[in-house]
Amino acid sequence: MGDVVSNESLANLLKEERRFDPPADLAANANVTAAAYEQAAEDRLGFWAEQAKRLTWQTPPTQTLDWSNAPFAKWFADGKLNVAYNCVDRHVENGLGDRVAIHFEGESGDSRAITYAELQREVSRAANALIELGVHTGDRVAIYMPMIPETVIAMLACARLGAPHSLVFGGFSAEALATRINDADARVVITADGGYRRGKPSALKPAVDEALTKPGTENVRSVLVVRRTGQDLAEAGGTWTEGRDVWWHELVERQSPTHTPEAFDAEHPLFILYTSGTTGKPKGILHTTGGYLTQVSYTHHAVFDLKPETDVFWCTADVGWVTGHSYITYGPLSNGATEVLYEGTPDTPHQGRWWEIVQKYGVTILYTAPTAIRACMKWGDDIPAKYDLSSLRLLGSVGEPINPEAWIWYRKHIGADRTPIVDTWWQTETGAMMLSPLPGVTATKPGSAQVALPGIAATVVDDDAREVPDGAGGYLVLTEPWPSMLRTIWGDDQRYIDTYWSRFEGKYFAGDGAKKDSDGDIWLLGRVDDVMLVSGHNISTTEVESALVSHPKVAEAAVVGATDPQTTQAICAFVILRGGVEEGAGLVDELRAHVAQQLGPIAKPKRIMPVAELPKTRSGKIMRRLLRDVAENRDLGDVSTLTDSSVMDLIQAKLPSTPGED
Ligand code: WT7
Repeated sequence: MGDVVSNESLANLLKEERRFDPPADLAANANVTAAAYEQAAEDRLGFWAEQAKRLTWQTPPTQTLDWSNAPFAKWFADGKLNVAYNCVDRHVENGLGDRVAIHFEGESGDSRAITYAELQREVSRAANALIELGVHTGDRVAIYMPMIPETVIAMLACARLGAPHSLVFGGFSAEALATRINDADARVVITADGGYRRGKPSALKPAVDEALTKPGTENVRSVLVVRRTGQDLAEAGGTWTEGRDVWWHELVERQSPTHTPEAFDAEHPLFILYTSGTTGKPKGILHTTGGYLTQVSYTHHAVFDLKPETDVFWCTADVGWVTGHSYITYGPLSNGATEVLYEGTPDTPHQGRWWEIVQKYGVTILYTAPTAIRACMKWGDDIPAKYDLSSLRLLGSVGEPINPEAWIWYRKHIGADRTPIVDTWWQTETGAMMLSPLPGVTATKPGSAQVALPGIAATVVDDDAREVPDGAGGYLVLTEPWPSMLRTIWGDDQRYIDTYWSRFEGKYFAGDGAKKDSDGDIWLLGRVDDVMLVSGHNISTTEVESALVSHPKVAEAAVVGATDPQTTQAICAFVILRGGVEEGAGLVDELRAHVAQQLGPIAKPKRIMPVAELPKTRSGKIMRRLLRDVAENRDLGDVSTLTDSSVMDLIQAKLPSTPGED
């Protein structure tokens, strides 16, 4: 892999060797210093046992890792703790009850500040309500909600009772919800009438009603419904089933605000979160209690350098994705942080909405995704420039490789050319961050997640599982178990073994292509399914995309390999132009020449198609499969997980007149 798009071309992409040293004041006061790497290298398990002390255990563990039944791990197995107690009650007991836990900002401008003391009362009430609905320890609860405080409260109430939750992203269909309810055999569904999206109420309850008519969902006995929008249920296509459906404000609000949490085994299931596999059935990723909370708490403290007394943290992800689980709910709250929770979209009612929120709450740490950063680049530099962003001291990125160009834009236009950027690589399966710079230690390189965090063992191997030398590419693997690792795929141990532990013996296969640069720093190259084979050379879609985005006229690019009789695959690029750029004659040739100059002639796209939008999943990942269908003139496959399926009509409508064919 990576034999053509070499390390030199990457350096070339960066024009000069851009490195950004940690700011002196941050380095001097950093929560975590270089000593952590040494300590963890000397005694990895001892290091994690030490980090577990960040938590309050009812029974502190004496064991750290049991790997005797690999790849089925047990961490801190003889310890007992309650996750909700750790995220809420203990802060109140420590005198922090008046600290704001959540600054909620609704899309239409309504807001609500929830202190830790209030959160304790709300979580206790919700837990008591679930008990009244007959929820027992071990019962699964599906949560299908908008981005509102009740979602976090519901998660914590489940955790408090040891009832594993399964969040299903609010943008998913009734069909997707039914599949997940069925697979986890959920007994209760928590939902809302709807949430606000793009300035309008967007209904949720009707999808629950529809899901519960499908086979395999019969065991759901109660649906707890938060009233958020107040919209008319019947008008939205929903129903109300007496005896099954209960309003949150009727049931929860009359409960006692106190509830004594019980401690559970460290390996008690905390949640299931579904991630789509390459084939058919989604995988129910299972996370457990003590190891998960240890690693999300530690990484949130270390990577964001969180100072809970003064920082205002904001993770923009949806709580229905793992990023929201780990860095909205469990990481920040276990650390006693103050955080922002925003309901809506970044451009409602205007494209400066996020920056307005940063200014309003004095956000100090912002964690978002490259796709959002590129959207902001497209909207223009003048938009963030209108707001006071001087409170920001640290920026984070997650979800896909961040192009060096977007990294630099983020630092310059959001971070005033001053804030470090932490590019954090991890997965639903890893539960918490795995590779990332440490902001007080690492000299950062735009576009690279760089190094494994202390206590994490990662490397890059070739097809034969041999570690590649610096300067070479291959597959990212994790070589030692880690506390927040998935424990299995719900109900399918064999699929867990086959998917993650069979490609390379004894190593976790992440499914991502990666390469090491001459310093040994790791660069992620996208999913291995996204690597193209052109005339016998492996070329990474990510690198060609980065080369395109480094051209001043391009805001965003998606690259796919389409079957080609001469070259096996031919590189096809779909590009979104920056605001104000016209799609004039010569543009396509100019872009092809630019890629050739950046990466070498072999990486020059055969076709380049300017488009208005790209097809993305609701978590912001480009659906290359659909673009391949377009490039190969095939009928489109399943478009149901797209944010906006009309995007594909727009792209296809453009095709006949597309220039740039060789
Ligand atoms: C896949 C996991 C981690 C929470 C959100 C996504 C890609 C994630 C990075 C990064 C390059 C990244 C990988 C990974 N990815 N972060 N910083 N640099 N790639 O969770 O939906 O489970 O996706 O996202 O391809 O395998 P997910």
